[in-house]
Amino acid sequence: MKKREHPRGIVIAVGNQKGGVGKTTNTVHLAAALGQGGYRCLIIDLDPAAGATRHLGVPENKFAGTFELLTQRESADQLIISENLPHGVHLITSRPQLSELDAALSKFADRTKLLEQPLAAIRKSYDFVFLDTAPFAGATTTVAAYSVARWILLSAFPHPLSLGGLTEAFRDVSDVRRHRNPALEVLGVVFSNVDGRATRLRAELESAAAAALPGRMFETHISQAVLLPELSGCGKTVFQVPAYLRVPVAQQYLRLAAEVEHRTQHRELFLQGKLPAVADGLLSVPRAFTPLDEFTLQDQGGK
Ligand SMILES: Nc1ncnc2c1ncn2[C@@H]1O[C@H](COP(=O)(O)OP(=O)(O)OP(=O)(O)O)[C@@H](O)[C@H]1O
Ligand SMILES: [Mg+2]
Repeated sequence: MKKREHPRGIVIAVGNQKGGVGKTTNTVHLAAALGQGGYRCLIIDLDPAAGATRHLGVPENKFAGTFELLTQRESADQLIISENLPHGVHLITSRPQLSELDAALSKFADRTKLLEQPLAAIRKSYDFVFLDTAPFAGATTTVAAYSVARWILLSAFPHPLSLGGLTEAFRDVSDVRRHRNPALEVLGVVFSNVDGRATRLRAELESAAAAALPGRMFETHISQAVLLPELSGCGKTVFQVPAYLRVPVAQQYLRLAAEVEHRTQHRELFLQGKLPAVADGLLSVPRAFTPLDEFTLQDQGGK
């Protein structure tokens, strides 16, 4: 991966209205993996539960963030946090106050346009802008995210109940395309928390997803790895762990990032179903990694 002279400003919403299916974990790790590859990434945390903010170790309530962004109380560039984050990653934080957004907005405000102007101001400073959404498709922040994004990345855990959630997510995307944002395309469906034993279930879910959205499954799966919830509790990504390249789940996220890079770089071919698989999935040269002294790792295993 190479950093470009002119950032591409690609906006990717990470969705699936089902709760606890890896949206936030995938958002922060994909941004951090792309950051390792030399890309500039911004995460906008659009969930009042502030999952991405906490996962990145930023204290809630310390900074103004998406509430101020969406109510236009502060300009976007004033709200960006860049300290103590994974290499190449910046963040606009969330906090519980975001759940009061509707009350704070004019009743005449167009919910679908809330992110348009703020993104126009900052998008071009980044290669990728990730919008981490709340587990509710009707939430104002989710509507705003889906209405402005160019791509949506769908997260799912292969669980017997996932198929219903995914089907609903596909319906949400086609509704958004019909009513709000015809340019929105599914970048891919990623299965994470994949247990090596549940291969039949995964295959069933995969073929259902592939039938609904031919060619849009990601080839890379993210394994079940106890390390990920542990790191989330410590406010870190796997890319801030010493010798992370030896950690299987870090390699998987680097491969997934390479797929994201490939698909977004060749959008037209990908959308026509003519894009060959990424040649060698693993990003080649991770850069500028600084080990964190204060962080001691208990378990580097990914199953
Ligand atoms: N590959 C994985 N292996 C094991 N645990 C995982 C994996 N991916 C995510 N998790 C854990 O699963 C839980 C849910 O993940 P996450 O918070 O990313 O989901 P979410 O879709 O953002 O949830 P919400 O809808 O509540 O925002 C977290 O505890 C997370 O650490
Ligand atoms: Mg989340």
